[in-house]
Amino acid sequence: MINKQLLKKRFNNHAKTYDAYADVQKNMANQLIDQLSTNFFNQEITILEIGCGTGYLTQLLCEKFPKAAITAVDLSSGMIDLAKKKVTEDRVSFICEDIEELRIEKHYDLIISNATFQWFNSLHTTIKKLYKQLKPAGRLLFSTFGNLTFQELHSCYSHAKQKLGLFSSSSPGQSFFSLDELSQICEQALVPLREHPFKLSKMEKLEIQYFSTVQGFFKSIKKIGASNSNEESYCQRPSFFRQLINLYENNHRDENGVKVTYHCLMFNITKTNQ
Ligand SMILES: C[S@@+](CC[C@H](N)C(=O)[O-])C[C@H]1O[C@@H](n2cnc3c(N)ncnc32)[C@H](O)[C@@H]1O
Repeated sequence: MINKQLLKKRFNNHAKTYDAYADVQKNMANQLIDQLSTNFFNQEITILEIGCGTGYLTQLLCEKFPKAAITAVDLSSGMIDLAKKKVTEDRVSFICEDIEELRIEKHYDLIISNATFQWFNSLHTTIKKLYKQLKPAGRLLFSTFGNLTFQELHSCYSHAKQKLGLFSSSSPGQSFFSLDELSQICEQALVPLREHPFKLSKMEKLEIQYFSTVQGFFKSIKKIGASNSNEESYCQRPSFFRQLINLYENNHRDENGVKVTYHCLMFNITKTNQ
């Protein structure tokens, strides 16, 4: 389970350094925008953005949709404060709330979210709730991280546990869904809504980043506020940490540096008319 108070605190504390370290998230936001057809751009549509963070995608949405009314939601006030500085147009309004708790009254042409759904505790319920708030022919478009994200870290973490004889079920962070698992969650949430049939398309992509050191990689996670916010424990013993870093350095360094895999998933769900 994600501890939402801790999550909020982490994003509040690291809002100011987020933009400098969020290269993968920015690439994902650009790819989301590429999914939208250009004949949509000049229309007076309504958009709900979830997890707007410091406003990178919000800004892209403003540029692409000059006539749209945009509502941007984020649970971190620190992130929203920065987004408000970046995006000052009156047609954009901000709500500081947890989307899983928020009662949404309006209906939208587009509900969009970048790199945020991995922080939800009940994806099934939240996807269903969001889909219900789409107008006819509306679209729910989101990106999130998949199960191969940080695969190097996860394998070194279990290897280090084995080496030190630790048998707890701890892990270095939350586990992510595979493309198929997330598809199933969407299908299970939406198929019962028979009166609102849907069309789903999905894609996945691996993005590799290199860091000069493992500590540099850990620092980058911290600086975007994405450190472990799970309620489950994870091992912080110094001897364990040394073992983990040694394994990572030995097994996942090549001529470019220390390798980190990001597994990016994208879902595009349209409410069809029949
Ligand atoms: C990794 S950042 C992505 C920010 C932005 N979408 C981007 O692409 O740069 C995730 C954001 O989602 C927000 N967030 C996480 N869970 C949320 C929730 N349940 N409701 C609203 N916002 C949430 C966090 O506060 C954070 O700003």
